[in-house]
Amino acid sequence: MKNVLSCVQPTGDLHLGNYFGAVQNWVRIQESYKCYYGVVDYHSMTMPYNPAQLRENTWKMAFYLLACGIKPENVFIQSQIPEHVELSWILSCTTSYGELTRMTQFKDKTDQLHETDKDAFVSLGLFAYPVLQAADILIYHADYVPVGKDQEQHLELSRNIAQRFNHQFGKEYFVHPEPLFTETPKILSPADPTRKMSKSLGEKHYINLFGEEDRIRKQIKSAVTDTGETTAGEMSAGVKNLFELLRACNSMEAHNSLMADYNAGALRYSDLKEAVANAVVGLVNPFRERLAELQADKKNVKTQVLESSAEIRKRAQQTLKEVREISGLTSGR
Ligand code: AMP
Ligand code: TRP
Repeated sequence: MKNVLSCVQPTGDLHLGNYFGAVQNWVRIQESYKCYYGVVDYHSMTMPYNPAQLRENTWKMAFYLLACGIKPENVFIQSQIPEHVELSWILSCTTSYGELTRMTQFKDKTDQLHETDKDAFVSLGLFAYPVLQAADILIYHADYVPVGKDQEQHLELSRNIAQRFNHQFGKEYFVHPEPLFTETPKILSPADPTRKMSKSLGEKHYINLFGEEDRIRKQIKSAVTDTGETTAGEMSAGVKNLFELLRACNSMEAHNSLMADYNAGALRYSDLKEAVANAVVGLVNPFRERLAELQADKKNVKTQVLESSAEIRKRAQQTLKEVREISGLTSGR
């Protein structure tokens, strides 16, 4: 069986965009591959953060993944497996300074920090982050990495690092991980459908996967339909997004009948919004219920995640043992 690895940063909330763009696919492919899904808390230290919040968000994200249908044995918390950091150091010595300076996400995040404070502190961790990501991937010999297009450059770097390591030590040791881009819809912000649904834009710009039904209905009801930029005869981005949501929720009957209304020039936006709200609520209600069950059994669930991390750690330790041998570090531990 081929190995799949993907990771998510513990950002606090999971929204519909994350679900349709990533997590749904992670759940599906569990049947076909040996899957490793990490909540990467070391990565979240690269931007300013609060320690108590980080720990809380890490657990929150692990619970969210389980509530969405990720199998407990496939989940790990990155900092439970410090070998990721050790491998990251070793790989950083086969990564050039120049290639890291070409990472566009580093530039974006630095700009983001400087937007609020022109003297903002930019850490070495933020700069080196793609090497840690390569370690996450290579440590489990992942063949496939399901990621969004925004991670394409980091994945390419992971492949280059693997190749260079193999070349430097004259051994085809690391596999070359391939991205697994699947057909996933891009979900737009209900409040501003010219932009991607995203947490960083603010609360009204994303629909929380574990949000209360009332709030979700309200958000969809007030979704922007006319952006004022469309030419006659062209569907506006907001309306397109609502149809996209219906399709993503697999409500094809409602989708097709409302699309027929649209084509006949008889679509009422209130009907479309009602259908979308029903579809989204129908999708997320079971997730929220499942989350409540997990939370009611918090202690056991946490123990389970720690145990699966310990189990997954054995795989990482094996890799490190081999890497230490190959790269000339002392063995015997
Ligand atoms: P982020 O935490 O924003 O980096 O998102 C993590 C992953 O969720 C991305 O790599 C995408 O695969 C997916 N994702 C995030 N936002 C959206 C969106 N608006 N539409 C579709 N997929 C998304
Ligand atoms: N960098 C990814 C993000 O910001 C998260 C991530 C860390 C990741 N390590 C990974 C994704 C390994 C895929 C594989 O979304």
